[in-house]
Amino acid sequence: MRVAMIGTGYVGLVSGACFADFGHVVTCIDKDPSKIERLEKGEIPIFEPGLDDLVARNVREGRLFFTLDGAQAIKDADAVFIAVGTPTRRGDGHADLSYVYAAAEEIAGLIEGFTVVVTKSTVPVGTGDEVESIIKRVNPDAQFAVVSNPEFLREGAAIEDFKRPDRVVVGTDDDRAQVVMRELYRPLSLNETPIVFTGRRTSELIKYAANAFLAMKITFINEMADLCEKVGADVQQVAKGIGLDKRIGAKFLNAGPGYGGSCFPKDTIALVKTAADYGAPTRLIETTVEVNAARKKAMADKVAAVLGTEDLSGKTVGVLGVTFKPNTDDMRDAPSLDILPALQAKGAKVVAFDPEGRHEAEKLLEGVTFTAGPYEAADGADVLLILTEWDQFRALDLDRLKTLLKAPVVVDLRNVYKPHEMVRSGFTYASIGRG
Ligand code: UDX
Repeated sequence: MRVAMIGTGYVGLVSGACFADFGHVVTCIDKDPSKIERLEKGEIPIFEPGLDDLVARNVREGRLFFTLDGAQAIKDADAVFIAVGTPTRRGDGHADLSYVYAAAEEIAGLIEGFTVVVTKSTVPVGTGDEVESIIKRVNPDAQFAVVSNPEFLREGAAIEDFKRPDRVVVGTDDDRAQVVMRELYRPLSLNETPIVFTGRRTSELIKYAANAFLAMKITFINEMADLCEKVGADVQQVAKGIGLDKRIGAKFLNAGPGYGGSCFPKDTIALVKTAADYGAPTRLIETTVEVNAARKKAMADKVAAVLGTEDLSGKTVGVLGVTFKPNTDDMRDAPSLDILPALQAKGAKVVAFDPEGRHEAEKLLEGVTFTAGPYEAADGADVLLILTEWDQFRALDLDRLKTLLKAPVVVDLRNVYKPHEMVRSGFTYASIGRG
């Protein structure tokens, strides 16, 4: 199959590289010359484990191309994917669809022969209908079908998630489009991945429903963690005890500082807006959004409580990890963006280390000093705050930390360490939901 992928962001680049690895010929198209220039040189604009090798191999083997001018690739394509951003629109919280519609206009004038136009971007219900009417308006003779095919990959595990998903969702009633989509995902039939064929609007909603449900699940366990702290229970045991019930499931029950990232915050807000517009408010999700926002701020209070003072003037907080999760350099809606300024507002000086996020974080976190390693962030600090569970923070040299910190105080918002071991090692130790 010949694929044109519009947008070389997270989803576009990973999907493009993975489809090429499935054996298809893929051209990734982007309007940003610096991005295309870097990709042509084999430089990957994002940090995602394994992506550089995957891209390099498929470029070398002649299946993956990058271009600023996608006209020819779109003409030749069996399937054109729209994988552009759908950020939160300023002012009203709806998803901004201007990039999606601009892509649809561009595609419309170029497609030749029967072409499947696939929206991979996360788009509100009804966007596929609009894409279809744009293409019809611009090119009334076009032979095409618009399909919704949401992407469920997680950052940091993107290639594995794309190649071994729990399911693929394809929203279309068009038989010819179904054949093309089945062919595109054929390698997944080897490991018997279910492909859920459904209506386009249903498919669009599935993506939002999945993200909202997971955000709600995390928020639920975060509230249980707060309760555990009050009643002297252990949230990890609670998560295990409920997660073994297959109706609940063990995943996404790690309590922490609140969810962040490029999807959950944006998609929960957009779903709330859509639901309100249709007169079917999603109160659980509204509450999830509110609880999660409040939680991030409350994490700064937790640090202050451990230090025994509201006023953190003259105190230094050493922070480990600022990205929203490990194995990414993505800072979008990272909890650190709320927690660190809240600490600064209490008067604290913040010194931070992140293995991959520094470059982005420096643009977003004013007044934070970044260090070259975790021990430098601890050096002279009054408290060490673990904010992102990068593997390298799981086995820190505790004796060394103790000599570097002004006082041996650790606040672990990812439950990386065991409370009794930390106490035995002589630390004042606070974590999430563990009594
Ligand atoms: C998410 C969805 O998982 C994915 O299916 C969708 O395509 C995009 O959005 P992503 O944002 O990359 O993926 O990361 P994810 O692993 O889901 O984590 C999101 C946030 O939730 C992070 O801030 C993470 O720390 C937090 N989280 C996740 C928890 O606090 N606890 C958990 O148990 C899981």
